[in-house]
Amino acid sequence: MNDNMLHIGGFSAEELTQRFGTPMYVYDFERIRTQVEKVRKHLPGFAVYYSLKANPNKHIAGFLKDLDCGFEIASGGELYLCRLLGVAPERIVFAGPGKSTEELTFAIREGIQAINVESALELERVEAIAAQLSMTANVQIRVNTTSGVSDAPEMMVGRPSKFGIEEDDLESVLAHASMKHINLVGLHLYTASGVLDSEEIVANFERACEVYQRLEDIAGHPLGLLDFGGGLGVPYVQGEKPLDIAAVGQGIQSVRAERFAKREEPVLIVELGRYLVAESGTYLTRVVDVKQSRGQTFAIVEGGMHQFLRPVFMGYNHPTVIANRMGEAATAIINVGGQLCTPIDMLANDVSLPPAQVDDLIAIQNAGAYGYSMSMMEFLSHPSPPEVAVQGERAWLIRQRGTYAQLFDYE
Ligand SMILES: Cc1ncc(COP(=O)(O)O)c(C=O)c1O
Repeated sequence: MNDNMLHIGGFSAEELTQRFGTPMYVYDFERIRTQVEKVRKHLPGFAVYYSLKANPNKHIAGFLKDLDCGFEIASGGELYLCRLLGVAPERIVFAGPGKSTEELTFAIREGIQAINVESALELERVEAIAAQLSMTANVQIRVNTTSGVSDAPEMMVGRPSKFGIEEDDLESVLAHASMKHINLVGLHLYTASGVLDSEEIVANFERACEVYQRLEDIAGHPLGLLDFGGGLGVPYVQGEKPLDIAAVGQGIQSVRAERFAKREEPVLIVELGRYLVAESGTYLTRVVDVKQSRGQTFAIVEGGMHQFLRPVFMGYNHPTVIANRMGEAATAIINVGGQLCTPIDMLANDVSLPPAQVDDLIAIQNAGAYGYSMSMMEFLSHPSPPEVAVQGERAWLIRQRGTYAQLFDYE
């Protein structure tokens, strides 16, 4: 056994690539389970929902369903997947701006737990579609709060935004809306993604409770559901510390005790994507060329940003290692580039690694969320990489490698 080899679950990276080829995505399902258990341990009483957009692979979603997660969806396609998996409609919430009439109709017909309404007009549209179907639609109001408790880059409230109804407009929107076919069931507040500061998450929860109580007062009846989003982050960049989820749990417990001492506590939902799946995933690819250019070293790998866009999209390096040189000293500064004919196709820049050689295996970690599905697989007409799951003694394909023929099938 090569002690310098990265292991993913019980498998060495080399063994996985011999079986499944490169480039590939691999996900450690036990890691996903650990994350779900961690959330349940520290946020007791919260229903844990999986945000499908983070990784909609059917087998990953099915694994999370088997762990008794609900689902936060953002499209008709994601609703279709939930139906395919047999997810109970009352465990699905549908968020996102610009839902089409077709998508709203699909959601109302399915009788999902809540459509998270993002604007006054969307509320009217839901009412009209439900009336036409002679049905009642369950609705949560998503609110853009007047101020946000975050300086996270992916902040979604407290500023002009395409998300949610303005907090200051809640009264007038609800006073003027016809809601004969709407069952107002709760509040949705999604503050930010990728938060690593526990105090900030607790403050976001406290704010959500405050707005929830305001919404109940406006509605004049108990709502019953508070979907507080979550935004729990994972560290991507060197030096970032993991979120202290125990501190989040403690803080939230005391907010709950205070806020709901005299009022009935609603059902609480935390909807998480990256916190559940990001760290389970690795994009594994092989070095095909190593070159010097004006004093800098470039390791060129199979695939590239069309298969794993996130480092380019976000503008930072994911944790990047040479899977077959784990114990070796990082004496080189390397730029890891892909095969695309654009200079922006860099999977990692100026990263400290052992000197790379042709046939080395580069592993880009924390690739389980917003990896495969957020990329642009058909660019350069490379077959899409396979996705592989590992769990205990098992490693198996959860998506086959694409083929040349498949690339052009729909044209
Ligand atoms: C409304 C909503 N919920 C949940 C998520 C999932 O975010 P994350 O993967 O950071 O948990 C997002 C991400 O954009 C979102 O917009």
